[in-house]
Amino acid sequence: MSTNIVWHEASVSASERTAQKGHKPCVLWYTGLSGSGKSTIANAVDRMLFERGCHSYMLDGDNVRHGLNKDLGFDDASRVENIRRITEVANLMTDAGLIVGTAFISPFVADRAQARSLATADFIEVFVDTPLEVCEQRDPKGLYQKARAGEIPHFTGISSPYEPPVAPEVHLHTASMSVEEAASQVVDALVARGVIS
Ligand code: PPS
Repeated sequence: MSTNIVWHEASVSASERTAQKGHKPCVLWYTGLSGSGKSTIANAVDRMLFERGCHSYMLDGDNVRHGLNKDLGFDDASRVENIRRITEVANLMTDAGLIVGTAFISPFVADRAQARSLATADFIEVFVDTPLEVCEQRDPKGLYQKARAGEIPHFTGISSPYEPPVAPEVHLHTASMSVEEAASQVVDALVARGVIS
């Protein structure tokens, strides 16, 4: 626990950053099962935003676990800490004026609710809703097969729970739409919110 620390105010204000960038900061919080398409859709959105001249960035579960969160596993406590750190990183990025996409399974309602409550910018929860059967059939990394064989403990949807969002701002039924359609729905939500124009 840190003590004797003092908050320093920034000399550049949030509104100055918004004016310079031409859009508001925002957290796009993607959630869904492994293999649901979170990273693919978040990447497609990031590309669309980049081409519109927006300042955006994407945080991806696998990638962040190679560095910042390499000390964390997949038991419940590790997942809670994973999402807590991502919440903080996303807030740093929105403080810097970015539209940040976070593509993590983020399986627990309480952690996503905490991310929302701590967000210092607009927060849009995007449910990448792909049924377990479809994810398991895709199995792009062969992880479901290993999990079914008992080779991966705490695997989401198999031996670890996934709590779907109750009221996400964007609900993507990926089985019946293309990646482009899904990404466009997210971008439309940003326009509707007044994050971008
Ligand atoms: S979490 O639940 O939000 O902390 O998970 P996340 O940081 O997004 O990491 C998910 C990726 O880790 C790989 N992987 C696993 N996923 C789920 N359960 C277990 N046990 C597991 N072990 C490794 C997997 O590649 C996930 O990537 P995605 O992109 O979701 O398929």
